Amino acid sequence: MKRLNSQLQEDGAPMELILLLRTLLAGCKEISFRVSQGALAGVLGSTLSENVQGETQKKLDVISNQILKDILSESGYVKAISSEEEDDVVPCNPNGNYLVSFDPLDGSSNTDINSLIGTIFSITHAPQWMDADDPSAFLQPGTQIVAAGYVLYGPSAMLALSTGRGTHLYTLDKTHGGFLLTQKDVQVPKQTSEFAINASNQRHWEDPVQDYIGDLIAGEDGPRGKDFNMRWVAAMVGDIHRVLSRGGIFMYPFDKRNPEMPGKLRLLYEANPMAFLMEQAGGLASTGQGRILEVMPTEIHQRVPVILGSKEEVETCLTYYKA
Ligand code: F6P
Ligand code: MN
Repeated sequence: MKRLNSQLQEDGAPMELILLLRTLLAGCKEISFRVSQGALAGVLGSTLSENVQGETQKKLDVISNQILKDILSESGYVKAISSEEEDDVVPCNPNGNYLVSFDPLDGSSNTDINSLIGTIFSITHAPQWMDADDPSAFLQPGTQIVAAGYVLYGPSAMLALSTGRGTHLYTLDKTHGGFLLTQKDVQVPKQTSEFAINASNQRHWEDPVQDYIGDLIAGEDGPRGKDFNMRWVAAMVGDIHRVLSRGGIFMYPFDKRNPEMPGKLRLLYEANPMAFLMEQAGGLASTGQGRILEVMPTEIHQRVPVILGSKEEVETCLTYYKA
């Protein structure tokens, strides 16, 4: 089986980006090990602190963040990082050529039930003019991403990665510690009969989502004329992996509760990397108003509505916004 390095070279990734990705993934392998130790290492459960988003931090959130922060800061390739678990950007090497944004442990409430979790990341060039502690350099639309991916810590540890030449899936071979290519050039099926949304928020959804989901639930008796199934992992990384693997539509839509918080998911280190992977696999990713990758960020922890997955199903959903 082909190794990660060979595939990255075949895709024309520059050597420094390959080295950065290998460094980042070395951190993810350590996270994978720490996560797998679970209760044996006393790493389950919460800390007493909250992150900048007001979410209680799990012990594994803090551990995973520290692992990635240390390995990326010491690598020399990175000028600064932004993380879900850091209030502000973290300056690294003033001469580094890249910026990395990450969610060190997505879906971390799943740690205590031994269910799916993962690390999500995206990488852009670091502008020459920026100071390493200047957050404005991170405010680039997702169209500027040079690499994005996630590592899913499941029954297998799997990497989904794109450098802009398709999305490939790799599986971590724990016998020698390498990521091996297990699915090249993933293509998300264009049609689906599976959706993912947290239905307990229904009363807070905007009208197009109410109407669209209503029609899916009406099944073969409704205007769609077919039954749909629903799945919800409660970890974006798990839901997106399913959608990449067998199609589907994933939504965390605009929420009427708080206009300051138009969705739950964060643009830089959740929505953008997943949108990049999805588009590279032939899927679509929208806020309901436009392409996620074209949203111009205004702050590093900005949230956006997310609708992504199978091309034709996302297109159908978007027709409800135009109605
Ligand atoms: O990181 C936010 C997140 O945990 C996502 O991974 C996941 O899709 C979503 O929130 C789950 O939200 P809820 O708590 O509404 O199920
Ligand atoms: Mn997350």
